Amino acid sequence: MRLLHGVAELRAALAGLRPVALVPTMGNLHDGHIALVEQVRAGGHPSVASIFVNPLQFGAGEDFQRYPRTLDADCARLEAAGCDLVFAPDVGAMYPEPQTFQVQPPLADELCGAFRPGHFAGVATVVLKLFNLVQPAVAIFGKKDYQQLFLLKAMVRQFNLPIRILEAETARAADGLALSSRNAYLAAAERDEAPRLYRLLDAAAARIAAGARDFAAQEGAVTAELAAHGWQVEYVLVRDRATLQAPTEATRGLVILAAARLGRTRLIDNIEVHPAPPPTSPGSLDQTRRRRASARDRVLR
Ligand code: PAF
Repeated sequence: MRLLHGVAELRAALAGLRPVALVPTMGNLHDGHIALVEQVRAGGHPSVASIFVNPLQFGAGEDFQRYPRTLDADCARLEAAGCDLVFAPDVGAMYPEPQTFQVQPPLADELCGAFRPGHFAGVATVVLKLFNLVQPAVAIFGKKDYQQLFLLKAMVRQFNLPIRILEAETARAADGLALSSRNAYLAAAERDEAPRLYRLLDAAAARIAAGARDFAAQEGAVTAELAAHGWQVEYVLVRDRATLQAPTEATRGLVILAAARLGRTRLIDNIEVHPAPPPTSPGSLDQTRRRRASARDRVLR
């Protein structure tokens, strides 16, 4: 595995490697990131991972300075996972000019964007730059950052980028907590509390799948339960999966998205609502469970 920091050396190395699959990251890699590498490797392309803590996507007062930087450990994990090349530029290599063009995505002021002004412009800008630098055939992003994935797919479509975007299911700890580099900020008691977010989303999704149609009541129930356990809730919203807008008569699939703070740590999570097929035979409950589990594990293209 090669570790490169400069744009010129990256371009030279890629010449002999294309077509490649790109795994963009900010480092401090966990099992979810490694699953992304394994997934693109299974597709047969050489894999390039980028590690760059992107200042453009952090707002004033956010955790850019303290975001964990663990390049040596990250490279060891990537090498063990069979990654071919790591691109880890510094800020000057990515943003060499003081005045920086930025991509302005739609929905940038909604959901997480409402609480993190400028965040999605920063994400779209760095990902577009990484796409231009690496020119991958395939790139992969996790569903934990659901709005990010949604916007990056729209960017690829609308800018006619010849890149296939793969989506990866959220990797979770055994207790359901979505894996995130920011989980490292949680104190022990907060880490014990943190899985409540997914448990509540899962329960609300099950109620909606079973026919509950008062989405505001579902959002309110999750919000109230989190608040009662000391969370500061930013939002809990049921949205149309195809638009990330409020559901309408035309809605075919739903997702519940949430962001909330435990102490100083901001956690996000989401769950797609998949209506369970009605049981038809004694064995059907098991089948339903198996179907739901495999739907969770499945990689949607
Ligand atoms: O999801 C992330 O880690 C980042 O937002 C990304 C896509 C690597 C862009 O900096």
